[in-house]
Parts: sequence; C-alpha cells; structure tokens
Amino acid sequence: MAKITLNNVTKSWGETHVLKPMNLTIENGEFVAILGPSGCGKSTTLFLLAGLYAPSAGEITFDGHNVGRVDARDRNVGIVFQSYALYPNLTVRENIAFPLRFKAMDKNEAARRVEEAAALVQIGALLDRRPSQLSGGQQQRVALARALVKEPNILLLDEPLSNLDATLRITMRAELKAIQKRLGFTTLIVTHDQIEAITMADRIICMNNGEIAQIGTPDDLYRRPANLFVAGFIGTPPMNLIKGEAAGRQLRLGQAALDLSSDRSGSLTLGIRPEDIALVAADKAALSGSITAVEPMGREVFYTVMTPAGPLHALEYGEVVRHLPGTSVGLVCKQELTLLFDQDGRRIADLHVNLSHRADTRAAELAPAN
Ligand SMILES: Nc1ncnc2c1ncn2[C@@H]1O[C@H](COP(=O)(O)OP(=O)(O)OP(=O)(O)O)[C@@H](O)[C@H]1O
Ligand SMILES: [Mg+2]
Repeated sequence: MAKITLNNVTKSWGETHVLKPMNLTIENGEFVAILGPSGCGKSTTLFLLAGLYAPSAGEITFDGHNVGRVDARDRNVGIVFQSYALYPNLTVRENIAFPLRFKAMDKNEAARRVEEAAALVQIGALLDRRPSQLSGGQQQRVALARALVKEPNILLLDEPLSNLDATLRITMRAELKAIQKRLGFTTLIVTHDQIEAITMADRIICMNNGEIAQIGTPDDLYRRPANLFVAGFIGTPPMNLIKGEAAGRQLRLGQAALDLSSDRSGSLTLGIRPEDIALVAADKAALSGSITAVEPMGREVFYTVMTPAGPLHALEYGEVVRHLPGTSVGLVCKQELTLLFDQDGRRIADLHVNLSHRADTRAAELAPAN
C-alpha cells in the first residue's frame, strides 16, 4: 500500500510531448481507473509509475519518497501489461516466480508465494502447463498472479481484461475488485471500457491528448463533467451536444429558442443525455420535433428526433416502441440535467435551460405521447 503523487510530471520523446505537466494524488489503497482514447498517454503514465520510463520533468513520490532514482525492480510495483507478455518457454509456475528471481528469498518461501498467488486467481491446478496450453482468460490470470507474487504496494494494470470475452470480463472484473479490496494495494487500471472503469474504480482519471481532462468519482464524470471532452466521452450512447448563442435569458439553438436559468451572453453548448429526455405529446413541451429513426436496442429504444434545434437522441427504457417514425413528439428534461458549456468547453455550474413541460399541462406528464 502506498500513497502516490505526481508533481508536474511530463514525458517527451524528443520533440514529441506525450504527457503535459501532470499533477495527481492517489490515496493509499485507492482503486483508480485511467480512461481515455487511444494514444492519450495512459500506458505512458503507468510506465512512469512502474519506473520503466523516467519522467522528462517533475517528481513522482510513493508515501512521500521521491522514487525518481529508484530502479523499477525496487519500487515494489506489480504490473500487468497490455499484452500479457508471458514467457512461452516457461511453465506457469516459472512465469509467476519470475519477479522473485532478483530477490534474496528462500526457495520454500518463493514456492509458497507462487502457490498463494496462483490460488488467489484460481489457477492452482495449471502450474505445470505452458502459456500455449492455456485459454486467454487463464493466461490473463497468470499475468495477474505474476504481478501479485511480489506482494506489491502498488498494482498497475494496463487493459488487463481487453482480450477476454464479455462474460469472462464481468467475472474477472468482480474478482479483481474483490482481491484488491481484500489485499488493499493501491491500484491503477488502464481501460478503454467505461463500464469497467465505472464498476471497479473509486475514482476515474479521464485523459485526453496527454492531459487530465477530469478526475472524479464515476458519478462526478457522468453527472458533472468538467468539460465538453468528458461530457462527450463518458456515456453510451453519447450525450447530445448542440451549439448555440445566448443573449439575456435566451439560448438560440438553430431555429429554436430556450429559456436560460440566468442571464448570459456568447456561445454556449447545451448537453443533455439521451436517457434524460422524456418524449411527450408535441403540444406539451417547449421543444418538439418529428421522429426520424427508431432503433430498438433490447432493454431500451433509441429515437432520433429532428427538432428546430437540430437532431436530438432520446433513449426510452422498455422494449416497447411507443413512437413510430414520422410522429411528432415533445422533448422534456429535468432542468438540473441540462448542462451548459462555455466557448472554451468548460461546464458552467448552475446554468441550465428550461425544457420542462408547459406550465399548463403538468397534469399530462404521465400520459403517453401521440
Ligand atoms: N517511444 C516513443 N516515441 C515517440 N512517441 C511515443 C513513444 N511511445 C509512445 N509514444 C506516443 O505517445 C502517445 C501516448 O502513448 P501511450 O502508449 O501512452 O497511449 P495509450 O493511451 O496507452 O494508448 P492505447 O489506448 O492505444 O494503448 C502516443 O501518441 C504514442 O504514439
Ligand atoms: Mg496503452
């Protein structure tokens, strides 16, 4: 277990600046996910922590100690690489034991540790096989056991579940989280998968283009995105984002005008999640439009509505298609769930638009559309 800090850490390769100055504190025993598009610097961040890369500038500390000059193998960090990187010529037992080779450790103690790590990820029966004789999920567990065998203070996982099928991912996700909570090591997991990040992590670091776009709880990122990047990146299907111009109490969006909760001027972007929009009778809402696409998705139906503000997506729970293409519908949304971003893409706290039912028709709220 260790508390990690990054103080103005950067990484460049020649003229290529991969990480902009990064500042970060991860608490002892915390489980943190790094989420972001391909090439944004996630693996680079892990490699800096593991000591496989040296920072170009800045300072990394574990429990207050600068680890800049500490060799990778002395950092007591376990790492699972994006590719499992198992040694094909070694048995599972030898693969797991590999990180102990430099440690002055009694043979029996080493053997005990290997057995223990293997048992933890339930591959105790496979110790004499070679990696080629294992399934992808089993190989993944070997890689995890190899990272755990040192009894690390910090566990770094680079897309450890990406090669598994959907069912196994869900199982491994839960197991990994349980192991982490039990052993309590500080954990960073890199993932492309938002669901993985949201279900496992205490906090998420959302990265874009070599910088941290936002750090927060899953709920912070989902409900209170700091900027347009996070708003658009988190959530599937993605948030509706429409550009407009504010003047006084009004926001012009295409041919539509909506009431703002306070005075404002200049360019704004309105953000609304598809699942936060309710479709009602066209005459019951300030904004209405015509349904242009209906996509049943199993548990929900995804609608595209052409409105004077532009096309908007709405998601309705339940498998029943309640509105057919060509139907006119009104769109309503709780005021606090409408987000507004300034021209630099930053969310403006406490500014919303009014997309509620028309005042005179509140009673009709629960009535189906059409
Ligand atoms: N040795 C290098 N020289 C120059 N650029 C590099 C080097 N290694 C990585 N990069 C660049 O650094 C950026 C970040 O790479 P990194 O591997 O950290 O991305 P990532 O977020 O892990 O992406 P992915 O999700 O695809 O694994 C990329 O644009 C990559 O091309
Ligand atoms: Mg990577």
